[in-house]
Amino acid sequence: MKYLSLIAAGVVLVLSACSQPKEVNIYSARHYETDQALYTDFTEETGIKVNLIEGGSDGLIERIKSEGVNSPADILVTVDAGRVWRAEEAGILGSIESDILNERIPSSLRHPDGLWYGISKRVRAIVINPANVANPESLTYEDLATEDWKGRVCIRSSNNIYNQSLMASIIESNGVEAAEAWATGIVNNMARAPQGGDRDQIRAVSAGVCDAAIVNHYYLAMMLTGDEENQEIAKSVQLVFPNQSEVGRGAHVNISVAGVLKDAPNRDNAIKFMEYLTNETSQSYLTVDNNEYPVNDDATWNPVLQGFGEFKADEMNVSALGKNNPEAIRIMDRAGWK
Ligand SMILES: [Fe+2]
Repeated sequence: MKYLSLIAAGVVLVLSACSQPKEVNIYSARHYETDQALYTDFTEETGIKVNLIEGGSDGLIERIKSEGVNSPADILVTVDAGRVWRAEEAGILGSIESDILNERIPSSLRHPDGLWYGISKRVRAIVINPANVANPESLTYEDLATEDWKGRVCIRSSNNIYNQSLMASIIESNGVEAAEAWATGIVNNMARAPQGGDRDQIRAVSAGVCDAAIVNHYYLAMMLTGDEENQEIAKSVQLVFPNQSEVGRGAHVNISVAGVLKDAPNRDNAIKFMEYLTNETSQSYLTVDNNEYPVNDDATWNPVLQGFGEFKADEMNVSALGKNNPEAIRIMDRAGWK
């Protein structure tokens, strides 16, 4: 009888171990079809089910905060180091340690204490009208704020996180005073008041409204692979990676980013998923359709990116972009950047 009850207890133990859900809950502000394929493959490979909750970045952060310790969220995925910094500030991220992640992701693209990791890269580059810009290969962000560029620059509004992060990188590289002079110079040189998104700036360059626009590289890539009208516009302009001289710091890089939450109920599965995201195959999946650059140098670039050619990337740690975000916003306000 005693043995039977021991066996029964054993069965209960095994059953309860099995009934532990083999899952990982991802709260994502990235919406790409290829991401979905990635989740399916992960489940096939590991047997871990992926539950996906999609939303805007700030909304997801609020949700995780209000769910508190009972939040089912294991991983937060978002874009821009400036945005993930808000999650960091909210205290919802937990640090993880992984040799695989540290080996595959350059240290400039991850949080120094493992709170978040870049999973793909985007470059805030310059798109020019090649007929009106001499020596585009030597162009810098700083050039666009000089007298020569009066009335020739298009850029979207300062409430956009991409511009805030670029501004934050200029604070980090050049100091607060120079950064403010840069913002004032850009405002003085605007061909028109900020309006529309990055694609609208590319259209404006093509239409002759301005000679240069600061945009994320993938918008041009998207247009190059879009319908005929977009292709024509995209082909009439040229992508320039700024600050490429020998002493230049390189083009401003930002990230798509994932972090494990402090109260993640499926922490081990979450780490497994993070590692999975950085393998060569996943990296291709993550970047093939949305035209971002892989963070893992062993992964191949998609054909459009190969067409853009090699470039030097700024190697500053992207955590500076969050840290300098409030200062960036204050500077842009003072400069009158709408
Ligand atoms: Fe974007």
